[in-house]
Amino acid sequence: MLFRELNRGKCRTYLVACERKRRAALIDPVKPFTERYLAVLAYEGLKLDAIVDTHTHADHPTAAFLLKDLTDARYIMHRRAPVPVATEHVDDGDTIQVGDLALEVLYTPGHTPDSVSLYVEGRVLTGDVLLIGGTGRADFAGGDAGQQYDAITQKLFTLPDETIVFPAHDYRGSTSSTIGTEKKSNPRIAGRTREQYVELMTSLNFPLPDKIQEVLQPNQSAIDDDKAKFPDLAQLNRVRQLSAPEVSIRLQAAPQPFVLDVREPPEFIGELGHIPGSRLVPLRELADRVAELQLHKHGPTIVVCRSGVRSTTAAAILEGMGFEQVYNLQGGMVDWNDRRLPVER
Ligand SMILES: [Fe+2]
Repeated sequence: MLFRELNRGKCRTYLVACERKRRAALIDPVKPFTERYLAVLAYEGLKLDAIVDTHTHADHPTAAFLLKDLTDARYIMHRRAPVPVATEHVDDGDTIQVGDLALEVLYTPGHTPDSVSLYVEGRVLTGDVLLIGGTGRADFAGGDAGQQYDAITQKLFTLPDETIVFPAHDYRGSTSSTIGTEKKSNPRIAGRTREQYVELMTSLNFPLPDKIQEVLQPNQSAIDDDKAKFPDLAQLNRVRQLSAPEVSIRLQAAPQPFVLDVREPPEFIGELGHIPGSRLVPLRELADRVAELQLHKHGPTIVVCRSGVRSTTAAAILEGMGFEQVYNLQGGMVDWNDRRLPVER
């Protein structure tokens, strides 16, 4: 196995490759370094087989969209990832095969709902869930400190002690650690109960990263257009959320809500299907096509996407345009399908 960190900065990108079959995976590539990655792959004579984002990043634009367009690599994320352009979705226990290498997927939510860790030959890439001497923040973008505690203590800390830990970030210049060391001395989590950990994480009150929505929303939507206008955090926080069972009840009552699906056309008829009677207007076209929806301006509208993230953006856009009763389907079609509610394909 060829294993290398490529950025030499605070954001870490790992190259993991099978030396025999000359196949490579890039984990968490960062957009401004795209040319560097392609140069390293060419220099090493490797074919890029897979791009993996361990989660939807809020602090850097992903290089995955560009790399996927420039090569024919697969783009792999967890099934709860909001982005429409992933070519494969994985879940806990799945394996990503890269040449002779098998990268084992551990579902480790908490930093975000779509966070995975990857275990390969005695190493674990922990994304932003477990950092060296720290843990990723869990206070925005669907983070949950309790889930994060469970993921770290019940999944990552059950790996062999000598497993080497490679996080997606490091702010202190550390390059790697081991599961045994983190279990013993990670100051955030070692010796803390779940309740103590949640309390600690809630008390941290970090400021939000600069320009967070300008990074996060393109990473969530694959809309990478300088002219695109995304709602701000206050607008997003105002969006009313309904769970899948709540939406299902409302669909059976009067007045019947209008269901607006904002995914891409292939997703609408894809594996998750769509809610019967829903109308498709992709998020990227919404602002230009809002005139078609005027009929629904005063009645209830429920906005739907894959995981409930792009639809929150769409709901905030509609509210900004004067739509009076907009709701978001929380957890999107992923949750809707998990609860076996009716779909059409
Ligand atoms: Fe992150």
